[in-house]
Amino acid sequence: MVYEKAQEAASYILGKIGSAPKIGLVLGSGLGGLAEKISNPVFIDYAEIPNFVSSTAPGHKGRFVVGDLNGTAVICMQGRLHYYEGYPLWNVTFPVRVMKLLGVETLILTNAAGGINMKFSVGDFMILEDHINYTGVNPLIGKNEEGFGPRFCDMTFTYDRSLQRLAEQAAAEVGTEIHKGVYVGYSGPSFETPAEIRMFRILGGDAVGMSTVNEAIVASHCGMKLLAISCITNMAAGILEQKLDEQEVIAIGIMRAPVFQTLITRIVEKIAG
Ligand code: HPA
Repeated sequence: MVYEKAQEAASYILGKIGSAPKIGLVLGSGLGGLAEKISNPVFIDYAEIPNFVSSTAPGHKGRFVVGDLNGTAVICMQGRLHYYEGYPLWNVTFPVRVMKLLGVETLILTNAAGGINMKFSVGDFMILEDHINYTGVNPLIGKNEEGFGPRFCDMTFTYDRSLQRLAEQAAAEVGTEIHKGVYVGYSGPSFETPAEIRMFRILGGDAVGMSTVNEAIVASHCGMKLLAISCITNMAAGILEQKLDEQEVIAIGIMRAPVFQTLITRIVEKIAG
C-alpha cells in the first residue's frame, strides 16, 4: 500500500525536522535556486528517505529543503521526479503524498514550460487555471487508497481560485506581468512536434510541459490547496524557426530565477497571511 509507504517516509522526515510546515513547494527546471534562499535549512536527500527514488532530470537536485522562506516555514522539493525518467507514477507523485501526510495544506508547483499561446514571450510567467492531461496515463489508476481520497476524484477546482488571485496580486506587487492559462501535460522526454503544438492550441492549451499534471491530480485527490506557475522558457515546437534545446530551457529558468524567487516569496508571505 502506498499509504503505509508514505507514512514511513513522512515519519523519517519528521524525525529530521521536528514539526512540518503547512506550505510545500516543488521547484521546476532551472528554478531550484529558490531553495538557496531558505534560512535555517535542513537538507534531506531523496536517496536517504524510505521508499523514495532519486531525480535524474538535468537541473534537478533531488532533495527536500526545509526551513524559513522570509520568515515562513516551507518544505521545498529541490528537483522533482518525472514520468519520462521511467518511474511508475506512484513513485513520481509519492513526494506530494508524503507532504500531505506531513501536514502540508497548500502546495505550490512550479515548472518550465513551452509557450503555445502566441501572445506569450520567452521568460513570461503563467498561472495555471486548468490543465489538459495529454500524457495518456493517470496516477490514480490502480486500487484506490481511501486514506488519500475517493475513487473518482473531482478536478473542477484543482487549481484553487483564491490562490490564483493571490498570485496575481503578488505579481502586481513585485511588478511582474503574469498570464493565466491552460497547461498541457505531455509525457516527454521528446519535445512535442509542431503538429502536436498546433493541435494543443486548437484544444485550448497555452503552455506545455512534462511535469505537474500528475502531481496536480494526486494533490487534488488528497485535498490539498494547489497553485501552479509556469515559467515560459521557450516557445513551443514549430512556433519559431529553430530547434528546441534543453540547455536553453534551463538557462532561461536560471535567468528568470531572481524575479521568480521574489514572486514566489511574496506569494508564500501572502498565503501565510
Ligand atoms: N515542451 C515540453 N516541456 C517543456 C518545454 C516544451 O517546449 N519547455 C520546457 N519544458
